[in-house]
Amino acid sequence: MKISVKKGDVENASNGYVRIRFTDKPKDAKRFIKENGVETLELGIGKPEEMNARKFMVLCRSIVQTAKANKIKKIAVQFDHIQKFYNPQIVAENFEMANFEFNTFKTKPENGLDDVVEIYLGISPPSVTLEKAIKKGQEIGRAVNACRELANTPGGDMTPTTLAKAAKAAVKGLPVKVTTLGKKEMEKLGMGALLGVAKGSTEAPTFTILEYPSTSSGQAWAKQKPIVLAGKGVTFDSGGLNLKPSNSIYEMHMDMSGAASVIHTVALSARLKLKQHVIGLIPSVENMPGNSAYRPGDILKSLSGKTIEVLDTDAEGRLILADALTYAKRFNPSVVIDIATLTGAVISALGQYASGLLSRDDALAEKIADAGEKSGDYIWRLPLWDEYEDRVKGEFADIKNVPGGSTSRYGGAIDGGMFLWQFAKELDCPWAHIDMASRMTSAPGDELSKGAAGAPVRLLIHFIEHHAPYDYSTIKR
Ligand code: BES
Ligand code: MN
Ligand code: ZN
Repeated sequence: MKISVKKGDVENASNGYVRIRFTDKPKDAKRFIKENGVETLELGIGKPEEMNARKFMVLCRSIVQTAKANKIKKIAVQFDHIQKFYNPQIVAENFEMANFEFNTFKTKPENGLDDVVEIYLGISPPSVTLEKAIKKGQEIGRAVNACRELANTPGGDMTPTTLAKAAKAAVKGLPVKVTTLGKKEMEKLGMGALLGVAKGSTEAPTFTILEYPSTSSGQAWAKQKPIVLAGKGVTFDSGGLNLKPSNSIYEMHMDMSGAASVIHTVALSARLKLKQHVIGLIPSVENMPGNSAYRPGDILKSLSGKTIEVLDTDAEGRLILADALTYAKRFNPSVVIDIATLTGAVISALGQYASGLLSRDDALAEKIADAGEKSGDYIWRLPLWDEYEDRVKGEFADIKNVPGGSTSRYGGAIDGGMFLWQFAKELDCPWAHIDMASRMTSAPGDELSKGAAGAPVRLLIHFIEHHAPYDYSTIKR
């Protein structure tokens, strides 16, 4: 999509553009007008004084969605009406996101796709900073869409091996180093938790490491302690022997959404030339109930040395992330954040409009929550207090992957976080866990096409750009 900024009012836009005009009518009020050969689309946005930053992002997306629904290719829009919330980077991000459809597997329609090809943005005189902000917003929007494309890819077309290849492809031509460990290397290292989950599938597991920048040719920032992001890469989650019921299994090809977000955040960091040292870790498996599958009752030895009792083979994400968290230690990170579609329970807790945030570090949690609010990838914190820790202590091993028993369903998102904390506590740096199961797919009112929502790429890039490096030593806890 092309976004052009030209001097002057959109009312003077040359023909060929449909002009968007905002009215105070309630949202959803839409009207097409044709006067003197000029087409105008009136969009109700409610009272200007009721506008806010959240509504503004949705409005940007609804402009593009309405244009698509009416097969309009070129639109001209001006935000004078609601200047206060106007932010060219946010506008560009959301235009791009709304223009995305997952149609890779569809036959091309004869009359072409219903996408918007050009947006004429009429506001304040064009300036270098304005154009830069728009370009940056478009880069971010495109990275979100690339993440959605990857996450939407069906399980039959996306195995741990394909995911590793996708990571390589995503950073092609960028200064990012990619290394993929195979099963043999993981066995040598002792990644017993990840390997345990992988056993039920004929697809070999992979563990991919992305590092930006690829070489630290003297720049001080490249030598800083890295920000390590670890993304759950379960390319299909059947539940394993604790097989999921029909209704729950359908969207489980998107169980590598955390991995997709990490891959495209590292690629985006490089594209935006951020002066930050960023490492992405992608543990990847397919969770299947094959002949050799790990069983409820099995005890796995994790990379950390801690043993884990498997009470439920469907709590697999935390197992592969446990080994990734331990692996993170070798990079001497400044901060570690893991991103995962970890629990259905987080959806019960928060609904579909926020990811869950779990951290023992208040300062880090605040920074991540702020990045969520500013970027539009909303996130809400749940506690990780000591009281919850007994629930993951093991009976016959050091820890167990779910509490089991009659209270097993209580606070499942917290249990997931508490399990991961058992490994994160060995790191000498702050850590946070983002449970994004609740933002895996777009929700009603998002003004995004169906399927993967691309969370939390915008949050992560905002965090990397504005809140890092995170100086552990200055934080009192
Ligand atoms: N991948 C699922 C969680 C999930 C559910 C993601 C719905 C997106 C949408 C995860 O591996 C899982 O199965 N979690 C279990 C945990 C339980 C066994 C403690 C769950 O949520 O039921
Ligand atoms: Mn599962
Ligand atoms: Zn899963």
